[in-house]
Amino acid sequence: MYQVKCIGMLTSGGDAPGMNAAIRAVTRAAIYNGIKVKAIYRGYKGLITGEIKEFQTQNVSNIIQQGGTILKTARCMEFLTEEGRKLAFETLQKEGIDALVVLGGDGTFTGARIFSQEFNIPVVGVPCTIDNDLYGTDYTIGYNTALNTIMEAVDKIRDTANSHERLFFIEVMGRDAGFLALNSAVASGAEAAIIPEIQTEVDQLEELIQRGFRKSKNSSIVIVAESDATGGAIGVAERLKKEHPEYDARVTILGHIQRGGSPTASDRVLASRLGAAAIDALLDEQRSVMVGVVNDEVVYVPFNKAIKHEKDVNESLLDVLKVLSI
Ligand code: F6P
Repeated sequence: MYQVKCIGMLTSGGDAPGMNAAIRAVTRAAIYNGIKVKAIYRGYKGLITGEIKEFQTQNVSNIIQQGGTILKTARCMEFLTEEGRKLAFETLQKEGIDALVVLGGDGTFTGARIFSQEFNIPVVGVPCTIDNDLYGTDYTIGYNTALNTIMEAVDKIRDTANSHERLFFIEVMGRDAGFLALNSAVASGAEAAIIPEIQTEVDQLEELIQRGFRKSKNSSIVIVAESDATGGAIGVAERLKKEHPEYDARVTILGHIQRGGSPTASDRVLASRLGAAAIDALLDEQRSVMVGVVNDEVVYVPFNKAIKHEKDVNESLLDVLKVLSI
């Protein structure tokens, strides 16, 4: 049996609150188990250029509460090429790194899967993305914090929406996934959510209008997931204004505010748990898996499954929204 002696650790793709808590957990769990930790800066780019520093436990002190990633992050095009990955492997050999722990989302794991196969290197992924769009884990690190950030922003917008008796379309992130939109809509008492998974925009808006929602309420909030298909909040608002010019509608795009901030307790616990689980996975001789949580138990999910399978949003929440927005 071969025991891993030295891991490389990197963060890649969009940052997510809780990444630092996960970096801390990976580092300390590795050192606890007698494994050396080499921190790789700027994602796969740093693996190619050799931007690496050995970490001790003190290097991750006082970061559990910080947003962003102390390792920096990047979306690296060179790693998508064979030549780039070859350079990355040469760095691993030079540094004596015999396994990788990568923190990120589906783009990060797609690269990790190819690299692990090509060079026969054990790679374990820790799911970090505000989008919550990885199959095989109930939650990703950063999602809960982003959800709370959105909820707080919507609460503030509700104040001005109320004062002016206006309708607001608020756009949230999520790439092609509606988890943030749907759950933030329920949490902030919004009237509707428009999400890419379900073609309900016309129905939902028409139904709201039929109900005369502006007549019975001081304000109305519709959360719209970013999406090329709908054109996001701007696209939806423009279509509504064309049909119903009587509405005094406004659009707010929350943008990158959703990616920052101190992680919630729930994200810190998840990050600590999954960071430590990544080291357990390597000790269990796992080679190409993401660690996740399902029903509060740690699970190992092959990269293939985590990336390719789409995770379903809970559609019954749309009914809850409808019932509660009368
Ligand atoms: O994957 C996280 C995410 O914030 C998505 O929700 C969003 O579509 C994308 O990243 C934005 O990426 P960037 O910060 O590179 O513009």
